[in-house]
Amino acid sequence: LNIDFGVLNGYVPYILKGVYVTLLFTLVSALLGLCWGTVLSLFKISGVLPLQWFATAYTSVFRGTPLLVQLTIIYYATPQLFNFDIPALLAAGLAFGLNSAAYLSETIRGGIMAVDKGQREASIALGIPYRKMMARIIFPQALRHILPALVNEFVALLKESSLVSVIGVSELMRRADVVRASTFRAFEALLFVAAIYYVLVLVLTSLARMLERRLRRSD
Ligand code: ARG
Repeated sequence: LNIDFGVLNGYVPYILKGVYVTLLFTLVSALLGLCWGTVLSLFKISGVLPLQWFATAYTSVFRGTPLLVQLTIIYYATPQLFNFDIPALLAAGLAFGLNSAAYLSETIRGGIMAVDKGQREASIALGIPYRKMMARIIFPQALRHILPALVNEFVALLKESSLVSVIGVSELMRRADVVRASTFRAFEALLFVAAIYYVLVLVLTSLARMLERRLRRSD
């Protein structure tokens, strides 16, 4: 068996720096997805037909095409179209944020629909304006329903973030590729990185489970 983790000697700090890049990238794209996804979900329940159509078509396209294709379109194709250079990290964050928003808009819409309609009726009866009703009454309750799903989305983004290695963002996967190329050995670096991803996902999912239990208790 030709395995020798000694070849990683000297490369470990380099790879570990990728953890920071991966987590930061995931966080930024998740926040972008959350904001844009919330707007899209509001479009979907707005009752304004053009907004609804737009949000539905958007979700359909972004969920119906591979994320890798979206990423490469944003990174390679848009600069050709508009004649400018887009930094890899910006292209990656944009692609992931836009993609995640499509998934999250459905999650958030579901969470809003799950709030008892008496809450809405009571707010209207009390003359509470739409914005205030959404922000203070509907959203806080919807959040409880979707919190576990949000953590799942974060986990999905974290794992998918390995895709951005193909456009040269130095996150975990990219660093494993670099180490593979300079040591001429694939197994050690890749297994090391796989283990790191796995630990990160385990931590996140146990966090989600704790959260879920906590929410159930306070019900
Ligand atoms: N792997 C799928 C794709 O290529 C999933 C995309 C990301 N998933 C997500 N929940 N944001 O399209």
